[in-house]
Amino acid sequence: MTVTDAPSDTSLLPLTPSQIEGPYFRLGAPRRESLIEPGITGERLLLSGRVLTPRGKPIANAYVNFWMSDDEGNYDMLGHHLHGYTVTDADGRYKMEMIEPACYEPRQAKHIHVKVQGVSRMLTTQLFLSDDEGRLRDRWFLPELEINVQEQSNGTKYGTFDFVIEQVTEKDNVTRASLAGRV
Ligand SMILES: [Fe+2]
Repeated sequence: MTVTDAPSDTSLLPLTPSQIEGPYFRLGAPRRESLIEPGITGERLLLSGRVLTPRGKPIANAYVNFWMSDDEGNYDMLGHHLHGYTVTDADGRYKMEMIEPACYEPRQAKHIHVKVQGVSRMLTTQLFLSDDEGRLRDRWFLPELEINVQEQSNGTKYGTFDFVIEQVTEKDNVTRASLAGRV
């Protein structure tokens, strides 16, 4: 979902739905704005967007941590290929260069795993691609989690996705110590 209008005083943006983590998340991913390294094949996808509160306020310094399979459906079980996090800027914006992952059994959809955290509990979810027909047969697909994939004239694909998360305070047990372990 991409937010185009700020909510009015009385309406709130819907929170980004959470979804399964799956078995392949690994701690310790590097910070970077591109998951493309030598040897990574597959269609390139430039993803960008914002992290917002339900009132549409940008969240700076939020962590956005992506991991995905390669273009044959394999996850890196030893290191952090196709796994990395970035941090939103003062306007709540992030960007990450990646690939369109493959689909693998038992899933029907190409999907991009992601964890997002501001001063908040961790949101774990996954994103889907509008140019992947398999998403419609996938049991976890939600339209709210779809990236509208466009193609530039040079063939590069790009898309945007805005996350909406609730910010909490220390009374909710979010402390400096708990935030320090968030990636
Ligand atoms: Fe997965």
